[in-house]
Amino acid sequence: MISEKSKEITPFIVMEVLERASELEKQGINVIHLEVGEPDFDAPACVIEAANKAGKEGRTHYTHSLGDPELREELCKYYLQQYGVTISPDQIIVTSGTSPAILLALGVLCNPGDEVILSDPGYACYPNFVRFVDAKAVKVPVYEEDGFQYRAENIATKITDRTRAILINSPMNPTGNLLSPDTLNEIANLPTTIISDEIYHGLVYSERAHSILEYTDKAFVLNGFSKLFAMTGFRLGYIIAPKEYIRPMQKLQQNLFICAGSTAQKAGIAALRHAASDVEHMKTIYNERRLFITKRLQELGFKICGNPTGAFYVLVNAKHLSNDSYKLAFDILEKAHVGVTPGIDFGENAEGYLRFSYANSLENIKEGLNRLEVYLNNREQH
Ligand SMILES: Cc1ncc(COP(=O)(O)O)c(C=O)c1O
Repeated sequence: MISEKSKEITPFIVMEVLERASELEKQGINVIHLEVGEPDFDAPACVIEAANKAGKEGRTHYTHSLGDPELREELCKYYLQQYGVTISPDQIIVTSGTSPAILLALGVLCNPGDEVILSDPGYACYPNFVRFVDAKAVKVPVYEEDGFQYRAENIATKITDRTRAILINSPMNPTGNLLSPDTLNEIANLPTTIISDEIYHGLVYSERAHSILEYTDKAFVLNGFSKLFAMTGFRLGYIIAPKEYIRPMQKLQQNLFICAGSTAQKAGIAALRHAASDVEHMKTIYNERRLFITKRLQELGFKICGNPTGAFYVLVNAKHLSNDSYKLAFDILEKAHVGVTPGIDFGENAEGYLRFSYANSLENIKEGLNRLEVYLNNREQH
C-alpha cells in the first residue's frame, strides 16, 4: 500500500525531462541540456583537494549533528563579509544540501493545517515540502506584466492566523529575478516568519543580492554550496535561524539525517576560504551565456520574462506556441533534441512558459538554440 501523503507528492517534472533525455541518449541521440538547474562546472580544485585530504586523514565519521564547528565559524565570517550581518555559530545547522534544510525549517515551524505562503511560479519542490509536513501551500500569483515580482502587499492579503511562514527565493528559480532591497524590507516587516532561500546568492550579474538578515534577525536563511560553488554532488547546505529554533531542529536532524557528510563539510570550509576566484571565473562565464541566450531567445520570438539578472535561468513566454508547456517541452525534446523545462513545473501561473538554464557551455547553448530555430521553422510550415 502506498501512503496518501506520498500519492499527493507531484513529480519534479524537470527530472522527468532529464530521464526521457537519457533514454534518447542511450539510443545514441545527442541531446542538448538546457533544462537542468545544475552547474556544468566541476567543483573548484581547492574543494576537491580538501575533500581528498579529509578522506586521507580519516575524516570518514559522523560529525556533530549541528555541523563541523570550523565550518559554522567560517559561515559566520562569510555572512559578515558578504552582508555585514553578525550571526553566531549556535544559530547554524549544517545540512546535506539545501533540500533537507527546507524540510527542517518547515518541520519546526508547521503544525498540521498551518499555512505557508509561496509565490506562483516558484521552485517546484516547495509545495511538496509543505505537503510533506501536512501544512497547506498558499500561493501568491506573480505575473509577467509585473515582471514576476513577488510583492509584500500581495503577500499581506494572504496572511491569516494559520500562516506560519512566507517563503522567498531571490535570485529566483525559475525567473532569475531579484527582489529589490525595498521589497525585502517590506516583506521583513510582515507579521510572519520569513524563510529566505538564498541558494542562488553570489550568482548575480548586475546588482547585489541582499540577505533577509540585513532587514530582520527573525528570519530563517536556507543556503547551500550546490550552485555558487558548483558542489551539487557534495550535498552540503545550512540553515541560519533564531537561536530558540536550533535545538528543536537539531533533534529533527539527529533523527532524520544524523549530520551532513564529514568530507563534504571540510570541502565546504575550503570553498568559503579559497574559492572566491573560481566563483568569479564561473560568474563571468555565466554572464556571457546569459547575455547570449537572452538575445538569441528574443530573436527566436520569445519574450523574456522579468529581469533575469541572477541564478542561471531565463523564463520565456511560449504561449504563441502552446498553452500546454509540458507537451511543448516534450515535443521540443523529441523533435529538436533539446531539453527545456515546462513552466507548469513551477506552478499554474507559469503555464505557457518555458525555462531555459544557461548552466551549459556557450557552444552547446548556441547549438541548442539553432536546433530550436529549425524546430520552430518546421512548425510554421505545417
Ligand atoms: C530554489 C532552490 N532551492 C533549493 C534547491 C535544492 O538545492 P540543494 O542541491 O542544495 O539541495 C534548488 C535546486 O535546484 C533550488 O533551485
